[in-house]
Amino acid sequence: MSALLAVEGLTKTFGGIVALDQCSFEIAPGSLAALIGPNGSGKTTAFNVITGYQPADAGRLSFGGRVVRRPDPCRLQRLGMARTFQQARVFPGLSVLENVVLAHHQPWHALLRRRVSVTDRRRAEDLLGEFGLAAHSHVPAGMLSYGQRKLLEFASVLMGEPTLILLDEPTAGVNPVMVDTIEHHIRRCHGEGVSFLIVEHEMSFVMRLCDPVIVLDRGRPIACGAPQEVQNDRSVLDAYLGD
Ligand SMILES: Nc1ncnc2c1ncn2[C@@H]1O[C@H](COP(=O)(O)OP(=O)(O)O)[C@@H](O)[C@H]1O
Ligand SMILES: [Mg+2]
Repeated sequence: MSALLAVEGLTKTFGGIVALDQCSFEIAPGSLAALIGPNGSGKTTAFNVITGYQPADAGRLSFGGRVVRRPDPCRLQRLGMARTFQQARVFPGLSVLENVVLAHHQPWHALLRRRVSVTDRRRAEDLLGEFGLAAHSHVPAGMLSYGQRKLLEFASVLMGEPTLILLDEPTAGVNPVMVDTIEHHIRRCHGEGVSFLIVEHEMSFVMRLCDPVIVLDRGRPIACGAPQEVQNDRSVLDAYLGD
């Protein structure tokens, strides 16, 4: 089966820093994949370039079998690719419900010109129910806890009915109960057919949830495989030990 996401030779430099160095990997449809690597190995940059938030210097990207020449966040979202951010991005002054509804309107200011459809509103309410946030629907998103904002961002990206979700450090800074909740929702969505690529530092989370695990070091993959394989890979151990 052809890849859902394929990156080939992605390169991104910031001044003298090579954040992505001829980086290539593929994500098969139905994957629950992890992208791991030491700090500064290029994980967030890979997400930014794949989702069109930063232009690559070189490389090719294809999604859903089509080559994406100039990745653009709005267009990719329409094609079924969604992402969350290492620091959850919500509109703090808007209500929780408005945040979810808005996620479906890219560019979001389009919303200012038309009314929210009943269907969108219902879907947003359903999502908030599924994520246990219904009681907070009319509260400004800025009042939510850090973990709840991560959940809200996750719920919001589902408005677009994505086929692939890229999560950047979904458990960072959230309490253990919320980690379990996030894991539950990832498994649930994966069971409903959504594919995932997850950047995550918490190794026990990655090891119990993800397969394959792709390991980046200095901007390029050094290993890709089942969690146990990757865990015992010499080059991976060296990368983490700062070889
Ligand atoms: N906007 C930027 N400007 C300059 N350097 C950057 C920028 N974004 C990332 N970098 C550098 O690129 C490298 C990879 O960073 P990043 O992708 O954030 O790594 P990771 O997410 O794996 O920790 C690091 O050396 C980082 O300092
Ligand atoms: Mg990062």
